[in-house]
Amino acid sequence: MNTKFFIPRDYEITKVNKHIEKWRSPSNIALVKYWGKRDVQIPANPSISFTLKNSYTETEIKFTLKSEKSEFVDFDLYFEGEKNKSFDEKVISYFKNVSVYTPYLKYYHLEIKSSNSFPHSSGIASSASAFSALSVCIVAFEKIINMSLTDDIAKKKESFLSRLGSGSACRSVNGPLMMWGEHKDYKLSTNELAIEPEFKLHDNFKEFQDTILLIDKGQKSVSSTIGHGLMNTNPYAKERFVQANKNMSEMKIILEKGDLKRFGQVVENEALSLHAMMMTSTPSFILMKPNTVAALEVVKEYRDREGVDLYFTLDAGANIHLLYPKSEKEEVLSFIKAKLVAYCENEQYICDELGNGATSV
Ligand code: DP6
Repeated sequence: MNTKFFIPRDYEITKVNKHIEKWRSPSNIALVKYWGKRDVQIPANPSISFTLKNSYTETEIKFTLKSEKSEFVDFDLYFEGEKNKSFDEKVISYFKNVSVYTPYLKYYHLEIKSSNSFPHSSGIASSASAFSALSVCIVAFEKIINMSLTDDIAKKKESFLSRLGSGSACRSVNGPLMMWGEHKDYKLSTNELAIEPEFKLHDNFKEFQDTILLIDKGQKSVSSTIGHGLMNTNPYAKERFVQANKNMSEMKIILEKGDLKRFGQVVENEALSLHAMMMTSTPSFILMKPNTVAALEVVKEYRDREGVDLYFTLDAGANIHLLYPKSEKEEVLSFIKAKLVAYCENEQYICDELGNGATSV
């Protein structure tokens, strides 16, 4: 894809002295996982995800025109009402990555206020929702000062800028199904941004549920960026990328045809392969906790016994995402309350479901 379309040519900063954008953008859960990348967030393999609804970041940016252009983007960031140094660093590197595509930002002061709908330090990856919320605010602002920005380019640019903050963030701006990374079976797929696949998601997945068991709310012991880097020397990396590509082909058929059993097999295979990669990297990481393994055993046993379509996936951490059709909601939630909350920290879990991406608030 030619990314020069994202470089604005004739924006007019004098049009706006002060402006506020406020957007909500959700997290997403990968079915086929992105793990391994080249700079800057060019994925080693394609991935596909469900966009979530209730787990989101809400971000407000106040743009104030300055008397002079500065060398770097000038911003103040408040996360849940407070300044946070480690977030500042991530946002500084995001602004560096996007600077060619957002030259107008250097003329403004940005006051950024951000908060999450899910509990702070719940061990839920928030980079996807955080960078997508930031990016949609910026593109919405650009729409006002750049007359030549078409709706089509703006939509793509939201995902493109999000990717330059955090890879998985590019899959959060729309929904309910997003794929990212070149793959022969997905028309128009690209490494630069996420797209909505062309086929229609089968009704079996309509309003699909994701209940997140908060097994361990501590900080992750390995950051995603370091984790991706470990794939450069992992002896199984090449095979893993082949596997991910095969799973993408299969997932396309599954999602179109509505085969829930096969869905479960592929999704669980992806989650465990991701963890296997971390276990076989140097240095190695075991990101599951004893309660993760114990809860997974209980899930499998229940599924086999009751014949319920209940499947799990994991991100690069100890928490468990339980995926199931809406029709099973009542039954699964009572099972969770009876048998699984004991494995969750402070008995906490989050009820989420498929959503449609970023919205203005
Ligand atoms: C395990 O998108 O957090 O959640 O691009 O370095 O910011 P960076 O990594 P990030 O990696 C997410 C990895 C994953 C799988 C996935 O979401 O596809």
